[in-house]
Amino acid sequence: MWANDEAVIATNDDASSCKRCAVALGYWSDKFISYFVRSTERKAPEINRGYFARTVAIKILVDKFIEVTGGNCQIVNIGAGFDTLYWRLNDEGKTVKGFVELDFPGVTSRKCHYIQRTKPLLQAVSDEDYDVKLNRNNLHGHTYKLTGVDLRNLTEVEAKIKESDLDYSIPTVFLAECVLVYMTMPKSSQLLKWIAEKFKSAFFVNYEMVNLDDRFGEVMLSNLRTRGCDLAGAEACHSTETQRKRFLDMGWAGADSCDMVGIWSRLPPEEVARVVQLELLDEQELLHQLFRHYAITTAWTDHRWSDIQL
Ligand SMILES: C[S@@+](CC[C@H](N)C(=O)[O-])C[C@H]1O[C@@H](n2cnc3c(N)ncnc32)[C@H](O)[C@@H]1O
Repeated sequence: MWANDEAVIATNDDASSCKRCAVALGYWSDKFISYFVRSTERKAPEINRGYFARTVAIKILVDKFIEVTGGNCQIVNIGAGFDTLYWRLNDEGKTVKGFVELDFPGVTSRKCHYIQRTKPLLQAVSDEDYDVKLNRNNLHGHTYKLTGVDLRNLTEVEAKIKESDLDYSIPTVFLAECVLVYMTMPKSSQLLKWIAEKFKSAFFVNYEMVNLDDRFGEVMLSNLRTRGCDLAGAEACHSTETQRKRFLDMGWAGADSCDMVGIWSRLPPEEVARVVQLELLDEQELLHQLFRHYAITTAWTDHRWSDIQL
């Protein structure tokens, strides 16, 4: 563990409780988040809209990937925290060949505990022909695997991926929602390079900050710092261009990046019309500023996935 790690781990509690709040207010539907986060205080409307845009956009990209591959694909969620995507997809009858979640053991042990004690969560990772294997930090279901690992330790990541029975040759989507930014550039770069070398048909969806060097970005950084959380990888978060470049420099065949202002304009209009009715938002400018400081970057090692966009 590094000095900053406890604060980084705590960002999962923050993200999960924001998701729980937005779900409770009706922004999107998620039957499973309340098993991981019991209750939460109400967040500001712009925060709820931000989480809505992020969660819905990522889900649309994953759905498209599953559709174009006919489900013959794998999903790897790095720094997954208490994300519920596996259960939401399963509930919709969408199956994939493998679904792996990686996070610090301090996070996966808590997730293992919640899954183990919650019937609907446990049932969804069980299979009548396969006994779920569980220890303190790891859970191995038939297709779903939850693994405790420090993503900065590539040897360990490689070993854990092997144990998870991932197939390097089939299409695989990697998800990272506000994760790479907590690692130094050499550490996140070695991970991205390794994925590009190993997975011949990979697609990456990365949600994180951009435009951090303006005034608003500086305030975001200093707020995090006061909570003991340094953004060790902020260097890649200067712009959508630096986000794209980090993938291209690490051997990915192509990459695209769009800030959340652009992503918001591409979300299904009927969904946007519905959610803007949920809460009054006085501070339109604040929402705009927030959206300008986050982006979704997609990258691919296989040109077939370059068309997967919002
Ligand atoms: C902001 S939270 C996001 C959680 C989840 N992706 C979501 O959006 O709900 C960042 C997550 O990345 C994980 N993380 C950051 N650095 C990591 C590392 N070096 N190894 C493993 N997990 C890491 C943290 O533990 C945390 O769960």
